[in-house]
Amino acid sequence: MKNILVVQGGGRPKGNTAQLVNAFIKGVQEAGHQIELVSLLKTEVKGCLGCNACRFGKPCIQKDGFNDLVPKIKAADLIVFASPVYFWTISSRIKAFIERFYCIAEEDPNPPLGRYERYPIKDCALLMTAADDFFWTFGQAVSYYEFALVNYIGFHDKGMVLAGGCGDTNGKAQIHKTNHLTRAYEFGKTIYNG
Ligand SMILES: Cc1cc2nc3c(=O)[nH]c(=O)nc-3n(C[C@H](O)[C@H](O)[C@H](O)COP(=O)(O)O)c2cc1C
Repeated sequence: MKNILVVQGGGRPKGNTAQLVNAFIKGVQEAGHQIELVSLLKTEVKGCLGCNACRFGKPCIQKDGFNDLVPKIKAADLIVFASPVYFWTISSRIKAFIERFYCIAEEDPNPPLGRYERYPIKDCALLMTAADDFFWTFGQAVSYYEFALVNYIGFHDKGMVLAGGCGDTNGKAQIHKTNHLTRAYEFGKTIYNG
């Protein structure tokens, strides 16, 4: 049994992203894993201030939702990043959440090229929805995920569900008209048991 933390960075309460996340959760629960969903709409996490207090042995000076998330991050085997595409990338809420990993980095006496500190090593996955469904729709978001989370922080990528063609936010969520919910469910069910 794995301990899974899903961090959802926005989207409408019953929107495409929430439905995609729920389908994934159904799959992982059926596979017998422990899962917790945190919405960054309810748990506010601000971006890093770059004050570097954490580099002088002090806790982060910002007192917001991130403090409660630190033990959850440390306990998780897998962190799932879920977001709608906003202006061709991840939402600002997910970006702010990632920036705050700065304050949980530890000294690494022998870091690999391009990394300066040690981060908790976790598995990670990406769940995203978008209105468009072009070959470039998720390009920026996936590139950021690979650069920041996989290459830099050092997480192990377990895969992605990139759900394009879900309809724009002028109308109701359209994801039920696609096969993405089935894909997310199967992804959840097989992520460790495939
Ligand atoms: C502020 C904003 C920016 C958006 N930017 C994009 C975009 O760049 N590309 C795209 O395909 N869809 C874009 N969309 C549409 C959403 O990504 C899409 O409708 C998504 O499924 C909405 O998620 P939700 O139903 O969970 O709220 C944008 C929507 C909003 C509100």
